[in-house]
Amino acid sequence: MNNFYITTPIYYVNDKPHIGHAYTTIACDIFARFQKLQNKNVFFLTGTDEHGQKVEKAAVSAGEEPQIFVNKMSKNFKNLVPFLGCEVNDFICTTEKRHKIAAQYFWNTLEKNNQIYLSHYEGWYSVRDEAFYMENELIKKNDTYIAPSGAPVEWVKEESYFFKLSEWQDKLIDFYTSNPDSIKPKSRYNEVLSFIHGGLRDLSISRTTFKWGIPVPNNNKHVMYVWIDALCNYLTSIGYPEQQSENFKNFWPGIHIVGKDILRFHSVYWPAFLMAANLKPPTKVFAHGWWTNEGEKISKSLGNVIDPYEVISHYGLDQIRFFLFREVPFGNDGDFSRESIAKRVNADLSNNFGNLIQRICSFIKKNCNSIVENNFSLNSEDDRLLQFSIDKINNYRSYMERQEINKALKETFELLTETNVYVDQQAPWVLNKSNIARMNVVLSLTVELIKRSTLMLYPVIPGSCLKVFEILNLNFSSINFDNIENLPSTSLTINEPSPIFPRIVIDD
Ligand code: MSP
Repeated sequence: MNNFYITTPIYYVNDKPHIGHAYTTIACDIFARFQKLQNKNVFFLTGTDEHGQKVEKAAVSAGEEPQIFVNKMSKNFKNLVPFLGCEVNDFICTTEKRHKIAAQYFWNTLEKNNQIYLSHYEGWYSVRDEAFYMENELIKKNDTYIAPSGAPVEWVKEESYFFKLSEWQDKLIDFYTSNPDSIKPKSRYNEVLSFIHGGLRDLSISRTTFKWGIPVPNNNKHVMYVWIDALCNYLTSIGYPEQQSENFKNFWPGIHIVGKDILRFHSVYWPAFLMAANLKPPTKVFAHGWWTNEGEKISKSLGNVIDPYEVISHYGLDQIRFFLFREVPFGNDGDFSRESIAKRVNADLSNNFGNLIQRICSFIKKNCNSIVENNFSLNSEDDRLLQFSIDKINNYRSYMERQEINKALKETFELLTETNVYVDQQAPWVLNKSNIARMNVVLSLTVELIKRSTLMLYPVIPGSCLKVFEILNLNFSSINFDNIENLPSTSLTINEPSPIFPRIVIDD
């Protein structure tokens, strides 16, 4: 399979982007870049979720027409993408015409397949979560109930269309039993399966109490429940309802990266909707954890929302990208602490990676007229290190395929640490006086290992890695994971080295 489709959730436009949004988008960018280096044909999608009561209320309090408001707010998310160093193939807005067409076609298909009926809904609803809850899921606080997320809930009663979710329980269990890797991490898979085993009730999928949504076909009194509208974005972008379009044939189904809070929508409702519309369920849904700020839950009321523009301007883009994915296993919760950023960046990027490049390249410039002779007459110790790099690359690749970014990075840094030890032991500065041929072997191998490690780091810190390739005078566009183990056959003239990762000063 040579195609790779990856999506972020589409972000609500009722507020400004924060570090949580940046996190998912960067994660997808890392996987997209990695798969491109595996010669895959990649489609990476992000966008904004612009309908629903929550957005409508935000527009009202801003005193603006909803469409004007969402266009303005959506720009904040669109502009953030390049600022995060991410390269997407499409940015979808759910108020676009193409999306209305796709969502209504999807609805009609469900209706044609006898999956929808009109009835009445009565129950607990949270505007903030855009979700319905069963009473036994709610938490009693004083005299009222609140949702498990802490959001307020209200009792609503209205006419509503329902999706026959209850009919999909067995089919979902069958699907997940035969595709155990389609929800990750494993603990989330278990959680979803036990939810499904607990029984599924039909799902209310339309609202009559507000207007800001895609109208239900043939009944303008109703707008679609925001989640059915939102989830369809993954289809719209690749050409749905044209199922014969090149993009749709190539890319459906794909991988959805989501936060743990929206896993149920993606791994229970969405595959059921899809199967009910004769489409394949997602290849995989990966649920990542949540960030806290210096140990505290991030919330507007606490005033501790982390602004991606602020932290990136302060620490640097690759420093933040690196910290977010090296510090915490993807899937776990993490704590955003300024001290940890400094420690991580200084130890790994400045001391380990940056220092290796700096000392080797300065040495080559000073002592070899900037030329690496590329002599690979390796002795057994060199061979062992070369083999070690092959093992590390293989491990790295399989971790990245499984979205285990921090383990993939750990492999990379083990290689860099070994390379640093090798340089110390071989001491090219001594060989320079005693054995030039051997010095050339050591330098050739070291530069080769820097090249390999840089490719491994590229998906996470692309900008800095391009600078390293520039210093090494290597043509990045011709290097990928299929040819990474090829040894160069000609000499190489490197460029002037300049420090790439200045140390971060830790404030007291
Ligand atoms: N619009 C829906 C998604 C629809 S997808 C068809 C939505 N939007 S959101 O803007 O509220 O959240 C988007 C993502 O940001 C979610 O995956 C959520 O988990 C993530 N995060 C929000 N706060 C976060 C942290 N503090 N940490 C990490 N991710 C967080 O839900």
